Amino acid sequence: MKSTDPFSIFRDWYQDAMAAGTPDPTIMTLATVNMDGSPTARIVLLKSNDENGFVFYTNYKSRKSQDLENNSRAALVFHWREPGYQIRIEGITEKVSTETSDRYFSSRPRGSQLGAWASQQSQEIPSKATLDESLKRWETEFRDQPVPRPPHWGGCRVIPDRIEFWSEREDRLHERMLFEKAGPDWILKRLAP
Ligand SMILES: Cc1cc2nc3c(=O)[nH]c(=O)nc-3n(C[C@H](O)[C@H](O)[C@H](O)COP(=O)(O)O)c2cc1C
Repeated sequence: MKSTDPFSIFRDWYQDAMAAGTPDPTIMTLATVNMDGSPTARIVLLKSNDENGFVFYTNYKSRKSQDLENNSRAALVFHWREPGYQIRIEGITEKVSTETSDRYFSSRPRGSQLGAWASQQSQEIPSKATLDESLKRWETEFRDQPVPRPPHWGGCRVIPDRIEFWSEREDRLHERMLFEKAGPDWILKRLAP
């Protein structure tokens, strides 16, 4: 362990996961809670992280985004089988700035950019053909020009107040280090596995 700063530990563990050959360490589970208090979870990809939080990109009208509008608290979970790490992150969410979303959107392949216009994420569609037709329509709309970021698509940052690092040990005596935010500081507690 090189640090008692959870963001720095996250970066160290991420490097360990890469070195251990984790196919895609950016894969994380995002849990939200709906109006009725029911939890739901899905996979999203971590696109950036620093002391301000953990950022993924999505459709702002999707089910997850509607959940977050009602209750901004969310949880993230990473599992990196080798080297045997689990990281649990909990906190509030906020939209990233439009400039940050624009910058990331412009770095995406054109197909993904058009997909963001074509798919009304989480809405029911009559058939797959509906999606293909929608994509064709947007291809025509933006033919021979750059695809702008749809206003309903952008980044979401999870600002953590709780980060737990779980590390696999022999005899099931796994190590659990819980960092809890207390004002500007992080308090470290050890938890039984
Ligand atoms: C490997 C993987 C990566 C994904 N990455 C994202 C992502 O970064 N953003 C996103 O909105 N959906 C992503 N998805 C799709 C989500 O899991 C989910 O189906 C979608 O966001 C709709 O969720 P919702 O209806 O709960 O809003 C990914 C799915 C998989 C399997």
